[in-house]
Amino acid sequence: MGSDSWEALLPPMFASAGIAVAGPLRVEPLTGGVSSDIVRVTLSDGREFCAKRALSQLKVAATWEAPLERNHYEIAWLRRAGSIVPGAAPQVIAEDRAHGIALLEYLPPADYTLWKSDLLAGKANPDVPLRVADALGRIHAATLDDASAAAEFPTDHLIDALRFDPYLRSIATRYPDLAPRILAVMEQSQSTHLALVHGDVSPKNILVSVHDGHPVLLDAECAWYGDPAFDAAFCLNHLVLKLIHLPDLAPILFGQAGGFARTWLAHFPPALRPEIEARTAALLPCLMLARVDGKSPVEYLVNTARDTVRHLAIPLIRQPLSSVEATLDVLQNSFRNHSSSGQFRD
Ligand SMILES: Nc1ncnc2c1ncn2[C@@H]1O[C@H](COP(=O)(O)OP(=O)(O)O)[C@@H](O)[C@H]1O
Ligand SMILES: [Mg+2]
Repeated sequence: MGSDSWEALLPPMFASAGIAVAGPLRVEPLTGGVSSDIVRVTLSDGREFCAKRALSQLKVAATWEAPLERNHYEIAWLRRAGSIVPGAAPQVIAEDRAHGIALLEYLPPADYTLWKSDLLAGKANPDVPLRVADALGRIHAATLDDASAAAEFPTDHLIDALRFDPYLRSIATRYPDLAPRILAVMEQSQSTHLALVHGDVSPKNILVSVHDGHPVLLDAECAWYGDPAFDAAFCLNHLVLKLIHLPDLAPILFGQAGGFARTWLAHFPPALRPEIEARTAALLPCLMLARVDGKSPVEYLVNTARDTVRHLAIPLIRQPLSSVEATLDVLQNSFRNHSSSGQFRD
């Protein structure tokens, strides 16, 4: 057991939280992460916790370095989000900043399901996107033009390394004819410092309570004081990619995406809504293309579905609309036409 092992690093973290550790710890890996070592820790009295340690190299195909300090901002986001919307983030028990470790409340599978697993199993509970949109909207609204949040998350460099570069700059390089549009959308979002952003609002990072349906947002390593439109577009993109993957769910998920957007947007002052909505609508097709041709393609889409994503996204990158609703309508119509032409099935 090295000085860098979980067994060496965890006891002082428990001690700092006033939790007595009698006897050995049981440490078991949790699956699903790409950017960290994440484990369940069981104390000898049976109490369970989750510990997450950031890795310096992400577990995706393309080389992708990510600074360890992101663990600190994840913890800061979880704390702040949980104080704005109680229960919307796992409770933070302790932090080891030097090693980039978070000790968190453990949310057991008996009490929570992963939204992504539900969607991929064809279960699209309509409450989930609305409750996610509501929690996200409340977090954004509570941190709007907030100097203390801005000072706590000076992470322009991290969101660039973790999101803008691997997603948007990488497709700009791949599609030179679209590059001016993609880079303009990127720069507009990057230069917006308006609210506290999660940065990875994906169904794979959201647990849903089986008891009362409340969502818990995990994995805030991309936390950024920046453009709230990024979070909404990111989550909408995941709903669109899921329905391209599962065409039988398309009408339902298009409807849920519209509901998500309306619920989220309603949290902003009316005067701000048009510009935030326009950035969301412009980001969405860029993010769609990024998840098939950027550095981190989604794993579940087959080749024909990837072509469908390109077919739907590229016209809207060339000519973005200012309304999310109208963008979803265009996507739905082109998806319907594309599907009925028989081109999307393997
Ligand atoms: N506090 C927690 N309690 C229970 N399971 C968790 C907790 N945090 C994360 N997980 C599980 O571990 C997976 C990976 O965690 P995540 O924070 O998303 O790590 P990564 O940054 O590596 O993606 C999640 O999808 C979830 O299934
Ligand atoms: Mg994750």
